Amino acid sequence: MNTETLNKNANHAATAPAFLSVWDIHAYYGESYIVQGVSFNVHEGEILALLGRNGAGKTSTLRAIAQIGTPELRKGEVWLDHKPLHLMKSHEAANNGLALVPEDRRIIAGLTVEENLKLAQIAPPIGWSLERVYELFPRLGERKKQEGTTLSGGEQQMLAIARALCRDIKVLLLDEPYEGLAPVIVDEIEKTLGIIKAQGITTILVEQNAVRALKLADRAVILDTGSVVFDGSAQEVLDNESLRAEYLAI
Ligand SMILES: Nc1ncnc2c1ncn2[C@@H]1O[C@H](COP(=O)(O)OP(=O)(O)OP(=O)(O)O)[C@@H](O)[C@H]1O
Ligand SMILES: [Mg+2]
Repeated sequence: MNTETLNKNANHAATAPAFLSVWDIHAYYGESYIVQGVSFNVHEGEILALLGRNGAGKTSTLRAIAQIGTPELRKGEVWLDHKPLHLMKSHEAANNGLALVPEDRRIIAGLTVEENLKLAQIAPPIGWSLERVYELFPRLGERKKQEGTTLSGGEQQMLAIARALCRDIKVLLLDEPYEGLAPVIVDEIEKTLGIIKAQGITTILVEQNAVRALKLADRAVILDTGSVVFDGSAQEVLDNESLRAEYLAI
């Protein structure tokens, strides 16, 4: 790259979109207007906690970012590493580095742990090797021949995250990964998310267990009735009792 190009890029950096930029998105289930102009940025390598009460619109926001189609994204833009996800179908967004791990985990019945992982690697862009995945999740290595749907809830959550890592991803969207899991398993998954972060993957973490999410996250965005009511550091939310009481009921 010549100096002129470098300078141009440097000048551009001041106004460039963030690594993941969600800009004024509006999404609908039929005529139900649910995501009402949500905007936030996620910086490369950080963990962002996306919080809010039941029905605040967290899952809908993740689905709109991932271009699932329901809710329908009718207005707004989503940019990931300079790519316009809002112009893509969900599989194209996935091929451009976006991974959504939904609440129900979607482990494929009738397949072993390893087959679930290999299926994720069937076409490029391929991410982590099975060896690397088993190093991060030794329990999955021990159970690789077991049918995925017979794993415990915590192990299924690990498998769902592992499957995302088997693709070459830039951003991991996790919808309530701690739901229904015992505290010691949550500890284990939390530790894993820390390691995934250290490997450079950016994460949006939606959690009902807001205190745990905030302790892990760098920043937080709080939604209420489909709009952003707070965007700041995770520590700020932990320190602000009235904010927590008003929007998180904790
Ligand atoms: N498929 C759907 N059709 C119509 N409305 C829906 C649908 N899914 C969700 N909603 C409505 O959209 C709003 C936001 O729901 P969403 O699931 O995004 O909230 P959430 O913050 O993820 O809540 P929770 O904490 O319960 O998971 C709610 O009022 C919900 O009733
Ligand atoms: Mg939800």
